[in-house]
Amino acid sequence: MALIFPRWTNWIPLLLAAAGAAGAIVVPTAVWYYFSPEYTDVGYTPVQPIAYSHRLHAGELGIDCRYCHDTADRAAKASIPPTDTCMNCHRTIQSKSEKLALVRESDATGKAIPWVRVHMLPDYAYFDHSAHLAAGVGCVTCHGRIDEMEVVRQEKPLSMSWCLDCHRNPAPNLRPPPMVTAMAWNAMDAGYDPHKDPARRRFPTPPTYCSGCHR
Ligand code: HEC
Ligand code: HEC
Ligand code: HEC
Ligand code: HEC
Ligand code: HEC
Repeated sequence: MALIFPRWTNWIPLLLAAAGAAGAIVVPTAVWYYFSPEYTDVGYTPVQPIAYSHRLHAGELGIDCRYCHDTADRAAKASIPPTDTCMNCHRTIQSKSEKLALVRESDATGKAIPWVRVHMLPDYAYFDHSAHLAAGVGCVTCHGRIDEMEVVRQEKPLSMSWCLDCHRNPAPNLRPPPMVTAMAWNAMDAGYDPHKDPARRRFPTPPTYCSGCHR
């Protein structure tokens, strides 16, 4: 006779009893922890269709982040560069390289390179790059040392509590807005105090009310 319930379900009454005995705290805590983005997303490093290296381009060659992510400081999305941006250089640099075959194919056919998304908030959460960059939050604060990554990985949880930790006390994470893409910059070495920056016309007040991020 076919089993209607898999054999492991025999353990459920025992598990429930154990959970009851251990207090109602353990199970919700475990569920909350294992399903929170801190557990599921940090370290996510998908394989990309091309061996494009930030360590080489943004690190060694020192190309500014906004050369490629050129909408970051004026729009919500930071944008992934079109093939044309790569071809600006690779029409002449390494123009025969095997590693760039897919870039040339994309240029010839007009079909976009299928880059795999790394960071992704759920639709019900609203995020805007330009507001953060204008206030002087650096890329490195939310994305880590991208200029040292061969392949991009997610460094921060992007969870609600992570957003709120900064929104409640943004001061330690602020820098002069012109320094937002400077990966090695830090406030302590620079002796920077955002409260005393004469270039700031107002001190940032990030939203902590629900509709600020759930619109
Ligand atoms: C020469 C172009 C170029 C430059 C310069 C560049 N990037 Fe990128 N970036 C890309 C491409 C292409 C991708 C998509 C493929 C990938 O994830 O590696 C990408 C992906 C990313 C992602 C992941 C996006 C996602 O899918 O979630 C982040 C974050 C990022 N870049 C940040 C930066 C930062 C910060 C800098 C400056 C230190 C920078 N990039 C400089 C081309 C560039
Ligand atoms: C305050 C935190 C924060 C800062 C500062 C920040 N990012 Fe992001 N970035 C995010 C989040 C969160 C996402 C995911 C957004 C989503 O899914 O809607 C993201 C996504 C991206 C993506 C994927 C495309 C997109 O817009 O969804 C790229 C590329 C990127 N960031 C590059 C950058 C660069 C370059 C800088 C600096 C110029 C930067 N980011 C600064 C938090 C930040
Ligand atoms: C500002 C110029 C510039 C831009 C823009 C640029 N690259 Fe590069 N890229 C270089 C240089 C310089 C090298 C190193 C060439 C060498 O080692 O001889 C390189 C090397 C590479 C390599 C390694 C090639 C090999 O055979 O070793 C890949 C892959 C690559 N780039 C992909 C990309 C992609 C994808 C883009 C667009 C997102 C891009 N590059 C945009 C300048 C650029
Ligand atoms: C490291 C600090 C930091 C982190 C992390 C951070 N923010 Fe912010 N956020 C700010 C600052 C600073 C501002 C600008 C407030 C101002 O200009 O008054 C801001 C502004 C905003 C705004 C208002 C934008 C507007 O157009 O009104 C939204 C929405 C927002 N953040 C969402 C998020 C979300 C969602 C996350 C997490 C995924 C996040 N933030 C993570 C510091 C941060
Ligand atoms: C600073 C931005 C921000 C504010 C303010 C904010 N949230 Fe969120 N919230 C987020 C983000 C980002 C996520 C998605 C996190 C993830 O990927 O799971 C989220 C997720 C959620 C979820 C989905 C369940 C979960 O925990 O993942 C609920 C419910 C929620 N928020 C309710 C609220 C309520 C209620 C408030 C007001 C008290 C609030 N949020 C304020 C950014 C914010």
